[in-house]
Amino acid sequence: MARHSVIDDTGPLGVVIVGAGFIADHHGAALRASSRARLAGIVDVDAGRASAAATAAGGVPWTTDLAEALARPGVDAAIVCTPNMTHEPIAQQIAAAGKHLLMEKPLTITVPSARAVVEAFDAAGTVVMAAHTHRFYDYARAVDDAIAGGAVGRPVFARLALLGGWIWPDWRAWVLDPAKSGGHALHNGVHLLDLVSWWLRDEPVSVYARGRAQTAAELRIYDYLEMHVEYAGGADAVCEMSRGHRPSTLDRRDVLVAGTDGVLQLPADGWGSTVVTESGTSLLHPQAANGFAVQLDAWLDAIADRAAERAMTPADAVRAVALGVATELSIERGEPVTLDEVMEGVRS
Ligand SMILES: NC(=O)c1ccc[n+]([C@@H]2O[C@H](COP(=O)([O-])OP(=O)(O)OC[C@H]3O[C@@H](n4cnc5c(N)ncnc54)[C@H](O)[C@@H]3O)[C@@H](O)[C@H]2O)c1
Repeated sequence: MARHSVIDDTGPLGVVIVGAGFIADHHGAALRASSRARLAGIVDVDAGRASAAATAAGGVPWTTDLAEALARPGVDAAIVCTPNMTHEPIAQQIAAAGKHLLMEKPLTITVPSARAVVEAFDAAGTVVMAAHTHRFYDYARAVDDAIAGGAVGRPVFARLALLGGWIWPDWRAWVLDPAKSGGHALHNGVHLLDLVSWWLRDEPVSVYARGRAQTAAELRIYDYLEMHVEYAGGADAVCEMSRGHRPSTLDRRDVLVAGTDGVLQLPADGWGSTVVTESGTSLLHPQAANGFAVQLDAWLDAIADRAAERAMTPADAVRAVALGVATELSIERGEPVTLDEVMEGVRS
């Protein structure tokens, strides 16, 4: 399929979007709003989707051939928004081309492949970041800022529930096939598993999880997950996740982080909220930022300054995959699964 080049912009960092589906629009909007990067093209195996997205973006080049897009002058990086099972080969191709990568979560669907991708980018000297977007939402950053500021002392317990009905009416077939998505824990559970691990500032050692096809027995994945994570330093996290509630409009989020000196609590009243601690109640700073734009900036920061501390490290991305894999295994076995088991053979 030939690439249709209509506009040949120049700009700070040329970024192609690979996979022009649901989430690609959010990344496209973040790119449009950025002065540090520009959309340099669209790639999708489906020519109709690629061309439609390219037209909607003002006539950027499009192609069905990733190699062709990566070889194009002015393409420095890629944001990959393809189904989970395609992440590893696409990431390897981007590393081999010497480009930077923002990979939608999960980085890959197995721990060895996640580790191999990180090694490939290390070898190439380019930046890979996994798009764990919740880290960049106001609520998550506000919780992290409050913990960093000592609001609760040393955090020892986190409870996070993300409940909704987004599965309805039409989750794509690949999402409902665990062989392609990695299962619901890897597909959506990683958001929670990554967040609580980030907030607790502790290394997870084991996961004990239960999954249920709560709202639709015909689902090939568990739409409802209960996940308990134990940490090396003694902390614990309890996560509850669903994408299959009725009504489909349900959008509930509950956060509680208990520490040695207090409790931080975000009532489920939308994305802006309050912090309640032993010393009183305070408002979280209402930044009203776009999480995808903040995430894009974090990736661009990592590319601009390789030595700077990263908002989301490659090790964080591998750990999130390991947590998702351990969760899936725990559901299957009905018993706790250690991170050591799923990381075995891939630690350096
Ligand atoms: N960060 C978030 O909050 C968030 C939210 C939703 C989805 N995601 C992630 O984003 C990714 C995409 O999810 P989606 O819901 O947008 O999927 P989608 O099914 O809506 O879109 C995927 C697109 O990728 C294309 N595609 C498939 N294989 C390809 C290949 N090998 N090369 C190029 N294009 C290919 C498809 O034709 C389709 O247009 C997944 O990894 C998912 O886990 C992240």
